[in-house]
Amino acid sequence: MVDYHIPVLREEVLHYLNAGDKHLIVDGTLGDGGHAEAILQNSGAQCRVLGIDRDAEALARARKRLAPFGERIILVHGNYSEIQSILAQKNIREIDGLLLDLGVSSRQLDTPERGFSFTHDGPLDMRMNREDSTTAADLLETLSDKELEDIIKHYGEERHYKKIVRFIRKAQGKGPLSTTASLSKILSSAVQQPRPARIHPSTRTFQALRIAVNRELDHLRTTLTDSLQILNAAARMVVISFHSLEDRIVKQFFHDEEKGCVCPPKTPICICGKTSRLKVVTRRVVTPSAEEVKANPRASSSKLRAAERVYA
Ligand SMILES: C[S@@+](CC[C@H](N)C(=O)[O-])C[C@H]1O[C@@H](n2cnc3c(N)ncnc32)[C@H](O)[C@@H]1O
Repeated sequence: MVDYHIPVLREEVLHYLNAGDKHLIVDGTLGDGGHAEAILQNSGAQCRVLGIDRDAEALARARKRLAPFGERIILVHGNYSEIQSILAQKNIREIDGLLLDLGVSSRQLDTPERGFSFTHDGPLDMRMNREDSTTAADLLETLSDKELEDIIKHYGEERHYKKIVRFIRKAQGKGPLSTTASLSKILSSAVQQPRPARIHPSTRTFQALRIAVNRELDHLRTTLTDSLQILNAAARMVVISFHSLEDRIVKQFFHDEEKGCVCPPKTPICICGKTSRLKVVTRRVVTPSAEEVKANPRASSSKLRAAERVYA
């Protein structure tokens, strides 16, 4: 049996995407194709899925897995932030749903050569798309102290950012930092935690570097905004995030786009012209059940939010 990434919140994704009688769903983070397969299995024969992934290796695996669906699956190697141009190239103007299951797949995390994980030694790479030019090792070499501190502070929400950069610079004095194990060793000595610690001392800095290497938050912001141009009326956008930075962006975006007029309260007639473009369908954030977390601990931090496109 092939060891695929386990799709998180599978039933919830199906419920909120509501793909049954729809025609075209975009899975912007195809990964191993688990969610795409579930969507195809649970929708009518008219429903197609356009799957995008920036990782060519993930795409190759998904291609095999989804082959039985024939022309109902369309695969694209690319970045979901290019969704508008990807659709334009295929002469598609509107879609009936968008799924973003953010972050990295288990396959990426568990492949040491990809350099995402501090639990395996490997090159300090972290590129989701191996055709991109900048690796995590490159960032450590080329960024200024201040730039590196900012990344670790903001993307890792790590309070020991100054000390970490000091320790990294000291180690770089003896030679370039090029492996996950060598960075993790430095982080373990820089970050002192109470025992037993809730997370590994490398967790936050590895997250920060990964976000920076792949410009994850920029791509997410762009895509949320651009998708408003291509979602049909009543089409749903479903986003699963794995840390508070992503979830905050999604929550705020949904909130802002649900709001209509933003004129000051006493303005007699609306002059801002803003109308509501989304209706939030998950009033409370959706999280996995205890059973799901037990079966798949990697689901534990997942949070799902969904909204429906409305036209004034
Ligand atoms: C959590 S996995 C998705 C797993 C998938 N839902 C499944 O069921 O197998 C995230 C995937 O999104 C891809 N990815 C992350 N950011 C991306 C982006 N900006 N554009 C395209 N793919 C992206 C990663 O390469 C990874 O394969």
